[in-house]
Amino acid sequence: MVIKSAEFVCSNTQISKLPPPVKPEYAFIGRSNVGKSSLINMLTGKKGLAKTSQTPGKTQLINHFLVNDNWYIVDLPGYGYARASKTKKADWNKFIQQYLDKRESLQCVMVLVDSRLDPQKIDIEFCNWLGEKGLSFVLVFTKADKQSTVKTDQSIAKFKRALLETFDEVPQVFITSSEEHTGRDEILGFIGSVNQN
Ligand code: GTP
Ligand code: MG
Repeated sequence: MVIKSAEFVCSNTQISKLPPPVKPEYAFIGRSNVGKSSLINMLTGKKGLAKTSQTPGKTQLINHFLVNDNWYIVDLPGYGYARASKTKKADWNKFIQQYLDKRESLQCVMVLVDSRLDPQKIDIEFCNWLGEKGLSFVLVFTKADKQSTVKTDQSIAKFKRALLETFDEVPQVFITSSEEHTGRDEILGFIGSVNQN
């Protein structure tokens, strides 16, 4: 897919204020600092579109970006931000779960996972929650430039094994690096094919 335009539309903390659910939308989610905003910028080819930061917890709202005037990328706040207060974490859960569970235009949840780490409990639990809700998701392994291909493949294999404890089959997997633009064609191709269905 060729990206002709990508623009910021709105930031929200309230489900009632989201854009009308009439265009297909793809939510990018994962632990704080996993590289969600960087990936969105890499995919759209717009460096400053989604705000990135070395400090976890940068993205705090539901951010809608309209691509090619006909589908949305949604940047969500990261989960598992250790320094967030209990109340904030509870708010996060309620708000994001409500969004994911109820958003009728949501086509697929893009679950970002740090390719350098062994399977993290919070990621597996989140995938299980998506499974329970019957939400379709794919796995996007980030920061692949930070280590060898062999190490990335090992992380992916371990993650798949962990998922197979609860799932019958594993979802589609993408390997990405926002630094090196890895995985861009694959993810945009995937979104393009879902949009056409
Ligand atoms: P929150 O919004 O805080 O949850 O974070 P996020 O998941 O949006 O992460 P963000 O894109 O802000 O990136 C976090 C840090 O990781 C930044 O310092 C990025 O430069 C770095 N980073 C993101 N993606 C990559 C990548 O593919 N390769 C490398 N080397 N660094 C990356
Ligand atoms: Mg972010």
